[in-house]
Formats: sequence, structure tokens, C-alpha cells
Amino acid sequence: MAKLTVRDLDVRGQRVFLRVDYNVPMEEKDGRMVITDSTRIVETLPTLKLLIEKGGKLILTAHLGRPKGKREATLSLQPVAVKLSELLGKPVAFVDDCIGEKVEKAVAAMKDGDVVLLENVRYYSEEEKNDPVFAEELARVADVYVNDAFGAAHRAHASTEGVARVVARRGGKCAAGLLMERELKFLGDELEKPARPFVVILGGAKVSDKIKVIDRLLEKANTILIGGAMAYTFKLAHGEKVGKSLVEPDHKQTALDAEAKARKLKVDFELPVDVVVATPVETGKLNKKGKPVFDFTNIRTVSGDIPDGAEGFGVGEKTAARYAEIIKGAKTILWNGPLGMFEDPRFAASTNIVAQAVADATQKGAKSIIGGGDSVKALKKAKLGDRVTFMSTGGGASLEFLEGAVLPGVAALSEK
Ligand code: 3PG
Repeated sequence: MAKLTVRDLDVRGQRVFLRVDYNVPMEEKDGRMVITDSTRIVETLPTLKLLIEKGGKLILTAHLGRPKGKREATLSLQPVAVKLSELLGKPVAFVDDCIGEKVEKAVAAMKDGDVVLLENVRYYSEEEKNDPVFAEELARVADVYVNDAFGAAHRAHASTEGVARVVARRGGKCAAGLLMERELKFLGDELEKPARPFVVILGGAKVSDKIKVIDRLLEKANTILIGGAMAYTFKLAHGEKVGKSLVEPDHKQTALDAEAKARKLKVDFELPVDVVVATPVETGKLNKKGKPVFDFTNIRTVSGDIPDGAEGFGVGEKTAARYAEIIKGAKTILWNGPLGMFEDPRFAASTNIVAQAVADATQKGAKSIIGGGDSVKALKKAKLGDRVTFMSTGGGASLEFLEGAVLPGVAALSEK
């Protein structure tokens, strides 16, 4: 059944508890935290504007990072309040807590159409535990609950699930925001009966992470194009050499089973015919996370076996050209997971070719849906983000939704 949306609500004078996903990337600059990508904030603006227009009092709740119940200054949402105010073109009051007296006082002073952003809800460990008492605390300022945080909807946390249950129990409405509605439409409805040919591009590091998605999409797609490090587990399963590449030897059978299922369902299941490889060399340096930094020498493209001592970093040019040709004929395209280490320009060429093919097919009328996370980053890096039909704001949430899981944040919303 369809979920209630903000369009269906009359919120004049009501306190709207609005869960958003403002878990945006930030960097420290001159002692201040600066947002490096505001997409997740920008994407909620239509919901906010509609609710402001309808005269609601908007109380925004979000998380930032994983502070695990501690107040970490670098994970404060204060810079987000500043950015949001700039983007909305109106004041956004920031409350440095998400429950208690300060919140209630700020909310009591609100007029219709006002916006308040509460501090990082994960400063309380009760949030991730979906603690019922904490959910009640949050719900003290909620007449209506709206969830526009698709990116966090796979979490059954107090602000994504518990509060909705409290509001519903009191007879209040729980609705999806416009971003949530769009995400469910493109990652859900549009893929139920896709225009054909339906081409799926799947990348990423591990077969084990993607097998549920592969399994489900094999039932729907005409073609699945495989890339990223997970392709090396397929190579290994075929008895080819993989050098130092990232592989999951325990999942060789998983890979073979996926191929067998594709044959049975007559899905064209494409694996890379060539791979860009390099020899990793330790630099003796450590990165910010304390992990060793490698340099790469002898970058080249190989077909067949990956030589001993070499590591695969993405699909090769022949594969990219072949995938681009297939994408050209698609009417629906879903892309989830990068095809190689696109963050490094030395390994980005093939991902960029595929990204360009997706953009070109879209211009010719295909629907292209980018399943969030790294694939969105790759599209943006190739400066093609505005040339596709839809880019999800979810990472883990998109993956779980594409696997066919019921997301707790969606399940908790009222039916129409
Ligand atoms: C995300 O960035 O994917 C969401 O905000 C969820 O964050 P989490 O993985 O820390 O729950």
C-alpha cells in the first residue's frame, strides 16, 4: 500500500518532527568544520519549502557520523544549520541538544513556518538502541512525524522508527517527505516494471556485499555488467590468477551460482574481459586513519590472468568500450557500485567511459538511476551528475532497498 506523504498533510500550526539525513561529508579548515558536499541538504529543500508554505513548525532531527553516545565537537550539526539557512533563505535556529528543556523552550517560541535544527541525535546512545523512553522524549515536540531521511531509513533507530511509533500511537500522522517519496519511486516502483532493455551495472569490492542485489536483479534485468574488485572473485572461481587483487575465496561458489542463475534466466551476465593492474609499493607513510599508504607502479592493462605481484584496480578499456556499447541500447539503467578505483585519476578512465555512456543514453531517452554511495561520487567526479535521471542520497539504505528489504523507517510511516 502507498505511504502517506507531506502532500496529504494539513500541518498549519502543528509541530512537525522532521527526520532528515544531514550526514554530510565535512572537513576541518582553520579550526572549523566545513561541509564539502551539501547534496543531502539541498535535496530536502522541496519538503521543507512545502511544509513551511503549509504553515508547519519544522523541528529537524538528524545524525552526523557515529559519535556512539558521546558529544564530539567535530560531529556537531551547527555548520549544517548555517548552510541550511543560507540555502533556504530564512533563519534556521540551532538548538545544541535534541531532547529536554532547551528543545521544548525553543519549540514553544516557534511561529508557523519557523525552522529549528536539533543537535546530533547520536550524541545519545539511546538513539541507535531505539530506546522507547528516548523516543518518547523526542516525541514531546511532535504533533506530526515526517521522514525525509531515506539514507537512514534502513536503521531502526529512535528518530527513524521509534518516534513514528509514538506519534502514531497517539493518533498523529507519519508521512514520507518528498525526497523519501522520490527515492522509493526510482529505486522501487520504476524498477518493478522497467522499460526494456534493462541494463544493470554492478561494481564494488565484494561479491558477498552484492550477492543479494545480484540475485534479485537477475529476476528483472536483461543484462548485468560486473565491475570493481568483486569481478576478481569471479576470475578466481574460473581458475584464473588474480595476483594480489582483493578477492573472497570463500565466495567462489557464490559467484558461480550467480552465473548459473543468469544462464537459467537467460540474463546476459557480463564479466570484464580486461583489467587495469599495477604493482603496489609501500611508501612507509600512514594515512589519517593510520593505514599504510601505497604507491602504484607499472600500471598496465591485462587480459586473462593477473600476474603475481600485481593488483587489479578496475575494468580495462576493452571492457569499458563493450559495456558502453551495451548501455547505449538500454531503456532503463541502474548503476550501483564503482567499476574501479575511480578516486585515483590513474584508474578512473574506464569508470568515466561508462559514466559518459550512461549520460548519453539518458539524453536519448533512457531512464538512468544511480544507486547511491560511491557510484554517485563517481558520476559527480566525472561531472555528469546532472545528466542522469536520478541519483540516490542513500548508501547502505539504497543497497538494502535494492536487495528487496523492507526499511524500518519506511515501514513505520502511515498508509494512505
Ligand atoms: C549514510 O550516510 O549512509 C546514512 O546517513 C546512514 O549512516 P550510518 O551508516 O552511520 O547509519
